[in-house]
Amino acid sequence: MTDVDSVDFFTDNELLRDPYPYFAALRGECPLRREKHHDVVMVTGYEEAVTIYNDTERFSSCNSVTGPFPGFPVPLEGDDISELIAAHRDELPLSDQLPTFDPPVHADHRALLARMITPKRLAENEEFMWRLADRQYDEVLRDGRVEFNGEFAQAFAMLVIADLLGVPEEDHAEFRNALLSGSMIGSSDGGSMEHSPLDYLYGKFSEYISDRRETPRGDVLSGIAAATFPDGTVPEVMDAVRVAANLFAAGQETTVRLLSSAVMILAEDPELQARVRADRSLIPGLVEETLRYESPVRGDFRLAKVPVTVGGVELAAGTTVMLVNAALNRDPRKFEDPDTFDIERKNARAHVAFGRGVHACPGAPLARAEAVVSLNRLLDRTSEIWIDEDKHGPAGNRDYRYIPTFILRGLTRLFIRFTPAETAE
Ligand code: HEM
Repeated sequence: MTDVDSVDFFTDNELLRDPYPYFAALRGECPLRREKHHDVVMVTGYEEAVTIYNDTERFSSCNSVTGPFPGFPVPLEGDDISELIAAHRDELPLSDQLPTFDPPVHADHRALLARMITPKRLAENEEFMWRLADRQYDEVLRDGRVEFNGEFAQAFAMLVIADLLGVPEEDHAEFRNALLSGSMIGSSDGGSMEHSPLDYLYGKFSEYISDRRETPRGDVLSGIAAATFPDGTVPEVMDAVRVAANLFAAGQETTVRLLSSAVMILAEDPELQARVRADRSLIPGLVEETLRYESPVRGDFRLAKVPVTVGGVELAAGTTVMLVNAALNRDPRKFEDPDTFDIERKNARAHVAFGRGVHACPGAPLARAEAVVSLNRLLDRTSEIWIDEDKHGPAGNRDYRYIPTFILRGLTRLFIRFTPAETAE
């Protein structure tokens, strides 16, 4: 790549298939390099990005998910824009969602989340995952072909979160219908969130939480309804509803992309697949390396509140930076031979696919468990999987489609074929 300025990362669909040479070219010029189309400083250096992730004094998360879109409502003038942010943050997209909060409000809402999702709940949820994976594979592994995302991963990731929050099983089918029809994640046409799935979740969880506050029933939703802020105050129903609903927005599409990237990598590489089939203890390493190699969240944004120098580069107050996780995870100063997929990479877990600092993904253990469970069961149920060439074309010339958004990385669909495992009758 010769001219990085000719590329508009945010809208250029050409770049979806293989963005990595563009990231390397940016980094080659400077680990903090301004892209001129939307005036965003693209941070592709690992250390530099971790510094920003950890600096909540000087960087705000108010634009975390949508970055330069639709732009700040007023001009960002002056050497300290903290007050402008405070006055206008509610006008930004997703301003009621945890990733966009700053301390100290962020800490309170994050603690509320931690009180809702206890270690005991996570352990029970993992038991549910094994049952759910079995049930879903029973349904879809029938005739030697499966579209992994639509037939398995979407519903799996969604129902895992529904179970985590204690949504009664009789409501699962309704959730499936309401939530699997539209995306809840911003897209490159302006980063707006489609409202209907979130509205649905707000409606449902308002009902659940109000009901459980009135009549506690000793179930998971009653625990969520009773969770308090760290100072003991009881949140408004809507505060609790938002925290719960945010888990679907943050944890569904992301996890689907992790699962399908891992399955694609196994289906593309019969030797690797045979090794993993023979030694399942390799699966957690495979998952970490997949997170590094194909980071499902391509990046998170921050807004500089005051002038700040990072990695020798001066950033004016009001600068939007994108911490490009997908590039940080391929920074050769951190990861040796970064474009090679290596399931035994010693420092794979140092990846920043889940971000860093106070906003680091609280769903990481869940996403990791979902990947381990769904891969293990897929390998149990099949003796071989491979890419469906009728759909994706021949090896070396595959037709893979990636979701057209700047925020996520992953396949829209993954068609695989399989030989069922021999079952002992
Ligand atoms: C492979 C799957 C996932 C990836 C790659 C991922 C990635 C991330 C990243 C990078 C952030 C940090 C955003 C920032 O700093 O601006 C984040 C935050 C968050 N994630 Fe995840 N995530 C995944 C799955 C999940 C799951 C399964 C859940 C919950 C069920 C979840 C819930 C959240 C929440 C609530 C936040 C906001 C935390 C905060 O702002 O304090 N994520 N995630």
